[in-house]
Amino acid sequence: MTLPCAAPIIKTHDLRVYYPITRGALRRVVGRIRAVDGVSLSIGAGETLGLVGESGCGKSTLGLALMRLAPATSGTAYYLGEDPPVDILRARGNDSRRLRLAIQMVFQNPASSLNPRATAGGSVAEPIRLNRLASPREVNGRVERLLTMVGLGAWHGRRYPSQLSGGQRQRVVIARALALESRVIIADEPVSALDVSVQAQILNLLNDLKAAMNLTYLFISHNLDVVRHMANRIAVMYLGRIVELGPADEVCTAPRHPYTETLLSAILVPDIDVQRARRRIVPRGDVPDAAAPHEGCPFHTRCLYAKPRCEVEVPLLDEVSPGCHVACHLAGELTLAGIDAQYAPRGVKP
Ligand SMILES: Nc1ncnc2c1ncn2[C@@H]1O[C@H](COP(=O)(O)OP(=O)(O)OP(=O)(O)O)[C@@H](O)[C@H]1O
Ligand code: SF4
Ligand SMILES: [Mg+2]
Repeated sequence: MTLPCAAPIIKTHDLRVYYPITRGALRRVVGRIRAVDGVSLSIGAGETLGLVGESGCGKSTLGLALMRLAPATSGTAYYLGEDPPVDILRARGNDSRRLRLAIQMVFQNPASSLNPRATAGGSVAEPIRLNRLASPREVNGRVERLLTMVGLGAWHGRRYPSQLSGGQRQRVVIARALALESRVIIADEPVSALDVSVQAQILNLLNDLKAAMNLTYLFISHNLDVVRHMANRIAVMYLGRIVELGPADEVCTAPRHPYTETLLSAILVPDIDVQRARRRIVPRGDVPDAAAPHEGCPFHTRCLYAKPRCEVEVPLLDEVSPGCHVACHLAGELTLAGIDAQYAPRGVKP
């Protein structure tokens, strides 16, 4: 079942990305890592969908699959922002170009995203030139406007990445992503490599740009605290699967999946008394090997609430209340700890 949302702009169905594990000189395939394991979801036009989960759960791979930078093993993914829709996984020729213009990605590390030998202005100008979106005389003016939009001056455009701070570099990366006037931005850990003081500036910038340009974001982070500040809806990922999806404030105040509860319990709230009264919920053991999935619920080896049924039966992602989807046999029976409502409803309203 594909998870619904208002006017989807991207829709996936049962999307899987399995990376081969190879051995020996002949690179014999001896196994597969199930990085994305049957993801069906929609991203609504103009929304920020937060994608959260611990390291290695497949967040980046899902983003890369939508950019066609990771090969999908099976399933479907469509871009619905144009008529006719574009089949992301099979697009060729003109459809490929339409996708390149429509969907852009901002990566975690701005230093490695930029060519060290190109000036900031040169990096922003490159996609405009390559896609012939402006005449040679117009390019400079367009680059200057983009730099202004991300809070930089024309003089920053003449500097090389090594002459810019981490926050300024990430602004250049964002300007370059906006250069093609894309409608969808996949932001993969866009602030994780930055100082805490700069993180808030970049998050605010992303929110301002979204409002000004009617952008749609897939906002990826391992940090639920960051995601809840950005997202309208949150999808929680575990071992390649979506285990909970719903409106940001509901997921944060009234989680329904035990894994979401553990992520929420790690968030620090600013009121010291409230924080002291909260309990850190640590899942048992380590994350299982994505190359050797076990039977039953993918979370059962770590879940504090697991029942015998959980060891043999995979829970499906069911709609438990309007817009809220959970993959847990005990959804609705458990009372799980969320963030106090006064700290939670921070997500941008649709
Ligand atoms: N190119 C690749 N080849 C083989 N395995 C890969 C490749 N890229 C990722 N993986 C594996 O796929 C799984 C998912 O990786 P992915 O990078 O998508 O996770 P993530 O959720 O983005 O993690 P992080 O929060 O650390 O960025 C991991 O087990 C990882 O080791
Ligand atoms: S299905 Fe069982 S093991 Fe899985 S999250 Fe729910 S209670 Fe835990
Ligand atoms: Mg990643």
